[in-house]
Amino acid sequence: MTALPPSNAVAVIGAGTMGAGIVQVAATAGHVVYIFDASEEAIDRGIVQIEKFLERSVSKGRLDDEERIAILGRIKRCSKLEDLAPAKLVIEAIVENIDIKRSVFGQLENILDDDAILASNTSSISITEIAAKLKRPERMVGMHFFNPAPIMKLVEIIHGLVTDKKVADITFATAEAWGKKVVHAKSTPGFIANRVARPFYSEALRILQEGGADIPTIDCCIRESGGFRMGPFELMDLIGNDINFSVTKSVYNAYYQEPRYRPNLIQQEQVAAGRYGRKSGQGYYDYSEGAEIPEVHTAEAAIAPTEITLLGGNPLLTPLVTLAKGAGFTVNKGVSDELSGFMIDDTLLLLSDGTPASELTTVLEKPTIVFDLALDYKAASRIAIAKGDQVSDEDLSKAAGFFQALGKKVSVIDDCPGLIVMRIVAMLANEGSDAVYQGVTSPEGVDIAMENGVNYPKGPMRWAQDIGLSHIFAVLDALSCFYGEDRYRTSPLLRRAVIAGKALV
Ligand code: NAI
Repeated sequence: MTALPPSNAVAVIGAGTMGAGIVQVAATAGHVVYIFDASEEAIDRGIVQIEKFLERSVSKGRLDDEERIAILGRIKRCSKLEDLAPAKLVIEAIVENIDIKRSVFGQLENILDDDAILASNTSSISITEIAAKLKRPERMVGMHFFNPAPIMKLVEIIHGLVTDKKVADITFATAEAWGKKVVHAKSTPGFIANRVARPFYSEALRILQEGGADIPTIDCCIRESGGFRMGPFELMDLIGNDINFSVTKSVYNAYYQEPRYRPNLIQQEQVAAGRYGRKSGQGYYDYSEGAEIPEVHTAEAAIAPTEITLLGGNPLLTPLVTLAKGAGFTVNKGVSDELSGFMIDDTLLLLSDGTPASELTTVLEKPTIVFDLALDYKAASRIAIAKGDQVSDEDLSKAAGFFQALGKKVSVIDDCPGLIVMRIVAMLANEGSDAVYQGVTSPEGVDIAMENGVNYPKGPMRWAQDIGLSHIFAVLDALSCFYGEDRYRTSPLLRRAVIAGKALV
């Protein structure tokens, strides 16, 4: 399907945070863009926002001045909806209110040509519901940009129940022509990115709530081991705890109290206290001047062993073996194919499969320490470890000494199932699998959404595949067994892929 040619005019309604960004994207792609807002001042502010962005681009050498002037020249201010008549695509980015959105689209139907596409940037309202009262609901589609629209690559194309496939395909191709990474998604609460991202926050909150690790340690492990740009608490503080809490509640209720999306009391307390995050100066962290920098748990230097035995042939651990050899360790090859990790003297150091170290210590009849997942064990600067309750500090310090000798910092956390990165990545992959299973999008769609909408270092479907689907399955099974909660049930898609030995992506 071909994109709308740049010779076709586009209109954007709402010149706020999102609208102004979308105007800039469309005008940069060569379209004449009509901009309308109920408030004249909002248009003023929106245009100033665009001017400033473009000036910065020129000063950084990303844009030449002629192009800047041309882009601004293509932006046309409008004072009434009727002025949008020539547009072939109208993108609405007004207040998140179903009645107001419906009223605006109802008026537009009588103003625009019959072949014009009606798109909404809504992040939480059903496209089916916005379209329902229109004379021609099939020409309504969701075009969900991410903030800031000129920078964030993702656009989710949302299909309402009666959206014409041709309309969705043209909108998809147009967003692609605007330089975006685009995915199709069925109109369901949270669409893709805002739904699949839920465990990033909810599991971190759960680990905190259960005393698994403290806030700075969770954030630090997610960044330094998981390769994410920000930890969940840092990100919640940036988004605003009020907004994050409200999105969590809205997705939870929209899915009729699905336990996976259940909000956490910790969030509620933050909001009740007015601790909204960066914007209020205090959230999970204190942003006031001179505030103490919270301490990340980092183990003290321990004496390293000299010899280790590799257990199993998990390719994920190859970088650790290479590092160990480089650090002068004697690396023996063990006989176990069942276990994934190392043996130091009589102590097991195993990659977490979700089973707590205390349980492994009992079942395997050896003192066991589990270590967390890293995006890349060579690049990771920190690894979280946890010992079984019965395991001595002496055994723990051998494990810490081993990772320290490989140049890693070590965070000792409580024996919580799946530790931090493994647990969160497994739950993200589970959520992505469920979205695919329910026909919301494709596995590739999940990965594109998470890499480009929320900047994950790797899409959760590909990541699960790289870790091994049966390992992810084991982690989820262990969580389910440990908690006995519906929240940790494995997605049927993942279960079927593991049973059939099939890939997800
Ligand atoms: P905003 O509050 O910054 O801007 C909304 C603008 O719409 C205001 O300038 C307001 O004057 C105008 N407006 C309100 N009612 C109007 C009407 N009847 N006719 C014309 N203009 C009207 O809001 P923001 O954040 O830009 O959000 C807009 C839409 O984008 C919402 O649907 C929101 O869910 C969605 N969205 C927001 C994201 C964000 O991070 N802020 C991300 C993705 C989507």
